[in-house]
Amino acid sequence: MKLATIEAMWETEPAPAAFNVVAWPDMERRENLFAVEVPYGMGLIATRSLTGEIPGINELVDESKDRIRQGALAWQAMQQIRENPRDVDPDVRETFLQNQHTLGYAYLLLPFTDDPVNATNEQIDDAAWSAVPNVWPMFYAFRIMVACGFFFIVLTAVFFYYTSAMKLEHVRQNRRWLLHIAVWSIPLPWIASEMGWFVAEYGRQPWIIEGMLPTSAAVSSLSVTEVLLTLSGFVALYSALLVIEIALMLKYIKKGPDDGTWPDQGRTVAAAGAVPVAAE
Ligand code: HEM
Repeated sequence: MKLATIEAMWETEPAPAAFNVVAWPDMERRENLFAVEVPYGMGLIATRSLTGEIPGINELVDESKDRIRQGALAWQAMQQIRENPRDVDPDVRETFLQNQHTLGYAYLLLPFTDDPVNATNEQIDDAAWSAVPNVWPMFYAFRIMVACGFFFIVLTAVFFYYTSAMKLEHVRQNRRWLLHIAVWSIPLPWIASEMGWFVAEYGRQPWIIEGMLPTSAAVSSLSVTEVLLTLSGFVALYSALLVIEIALMLKYIKKGPDDGTWPDQGRTVAAAGAVPVAAE
């Protein structure tokens, strides 16, 4: 499902599937309003073959519906076993054992009904679609990360060329825009990491363990106040550290590079980072 949402693949396409470079995914209509495709691209990247099929979101949702129905049987059997754990009816036990691998899916129903076994088709539909992360942020967060990745490769190659050809002075005099790009690129690895982390974590919702344990069934019992207090503590601590760090960095930037002398004692330093030695 994560892969299907990253690629905004609503339908299972005949292998090898096309790769959507740019698309406008619409969650309401459950389709892409437009897409620029590279034929065969997705099939080759994801399956490394011309024959491997990649299931689309709609097909995965249909599979989820079957698992939800099956999971509801396991859920009901589990309730009966809990009521009378010392004397379990063999049929109930058998029902549980046969359907337990889909038990997690029954939990998807709990936000929509208290009675999973008698869930309506509409409730099952809602539960199955609740397991689809919003496609738009997945699609673009992934692409921003990958665009950053390819940009870094090109930038590194360009500067590798200029430094190994000893032409950095030429860059400084004639290609200053390259130095500007380098400086403005400093936040990009951070942005790429955040995007990657977002894809990994948001994309796996609503599961803590895929297909087994939904996040809603695994959250801790901490109150909102407790979470707010600890979060505020962390924010305050790290903000203070950030201010101190930036202040220290600015102080040492203003001081400038080491010219080899200790300003206060008039002693020279043998080499960068070496222990100061007495001046002659
Ligand atoms: C060259 C293009 C790149 C590709 C094809 C790529 C691919 C991926 C994929 C497929 C994931 C999802 C893993 C998952 O959901 O389980 C991911 C996660 C991630 N990526 Fe990228 N990535 C690229 C560039 C980058 C760059 C440049 C950075 C950072 C500088 C980055 C940082 C991350 C991070 C932090 C995660 C989350 C890892 C986790 O929490 O499990 N990625 N990447």
